[in-house]
Amino acid sequence: MLNPWASEDIKDYSRIVREFGLREIGPDVLPDNPYVRRGIVFAHRDLDLWIEDAKGGNAAILTGIKPSGPFHLGTLMTARDLVYFHRKFGVDTYYCVADIEAYEDNGLPFEESKRIAVSHIAHALALGLSEDTYFYFQSHEKHVMRTAFRVARLVTDSTLRAVYGPHPIRLYLSALVQVGDILLPQREEKRRVLVPVGIDQDPHIRLTRDVAHRMGLVPPAATYHRLMRSLTGEGKMSKRDPMSYLSLDDPVDLARRKVYNAFTGGRATAEEQREKGGRPDICMVFTLATYFMEDEEIQEIHDKCVSGKILCGECKKRVWGRIEEFLVEHRKKYEEKLPLAQEIVKEVTK
Ligand code: TRP
Ligand code: SF4
Repeated sequence: MLNPWASEDIKDYSRIVREFGLREIGPDVLPDNPYVRRGIVFAHRDLDLWIEDAKGGNAAILTGIKPSGPFHLGTLMTARDLVYFHRKFGVDTYYCVADIEAYEDNGLPFEESKRIAVSHIAHALALGLSEDTYFYFQSHEKHVMRTAFRVARLVTDSTLRAVYGPHPIRLYLSALVQVGDILLPQREEKRRVLVPVGIDQDPHIRLTRDVAHRMGLVPPAATYHRLMRSLTGEGKMSKRDPMSYLSLDDPVDLARRKVYNAFTGGRATAEEQREKGGRPDICMVFTLATYFMEDEEIQEIHDKCVSGKILCGECKKRVWGRIEEFLVEHRKKYEEKLPLAQEIVKEVTK
């Protein structure tokens, strides 16, 4: 069972692909997408059908981000997915601020969501998200509510329990709202909607596909990325432990400390590492490299690591160098986009 409200640390992604009938995305499908090439975006539903429809000019993309905390690397991936698909296919793009979910799941007051959403939207714009994107808040989008009410008549509590496992009613409510989100782009006309998300969100996609059929709408397509693991190497990242995740809001020295303290696949001694090589497959510094470096450099680090030609100290320094460059550059763009983000939030929450 995948739990979208308590994303577990997933060890075996191919088991999930099999268990839930997903399809793997090979690097040949979207070879220009670096995160597909690196296996971070690893599976999909109906992506082939969506690409056809997008080329035919009848498709959209939508994703949602819960404004309940810092903009971390998970949200970074979601935003990058949105930017990529928008640029490549030029389709209508929707960004949902999941403030109902933030309230139901995290008890976050709506005013607080608004404040955090300004920062999230500024980050997304700084990452290249188009200003033409349709930004909205769940709590302010009447059509989303109405769809949720209709969907409530189509699902039974045993369906919800089968899809999500047992949860308090407030989480089921936010699941119905999320179905409303995903169907929003079909408000005026039927079209295929691609939802790029972390794999923990697949239960929402399955539920939406099921009700879409019954409402005479097109079932959504989805792409799935891997979940970012804790930098400390112990399971999932957790808001309670800031050292477990990197956020685009982190001041540079805090970010540096996080990278230098991250769990590595290094050996107990330098001699042992020179002899046996390191383990990039379990190394969080290597994972960070796949988020922030170019292909050739990632490959070089990988090869030098497994052959024992580079040790963790030097490696961390190189990877951190790239992250620092990115953060400094991003921070400038972020500051530039803040006023626009403020305006957008004001406008869509009137
Ligand atoms: N549940 C998602 C999360 O926690 C946020 C979300 C809300 C969402 N509505 C959505 C994601 C619609 C994709 C599509 O991250
Ligand atoms: Fe990780 Fe780099 Fe050490 Fe290899 S050398 S284990 S990639 S930190």
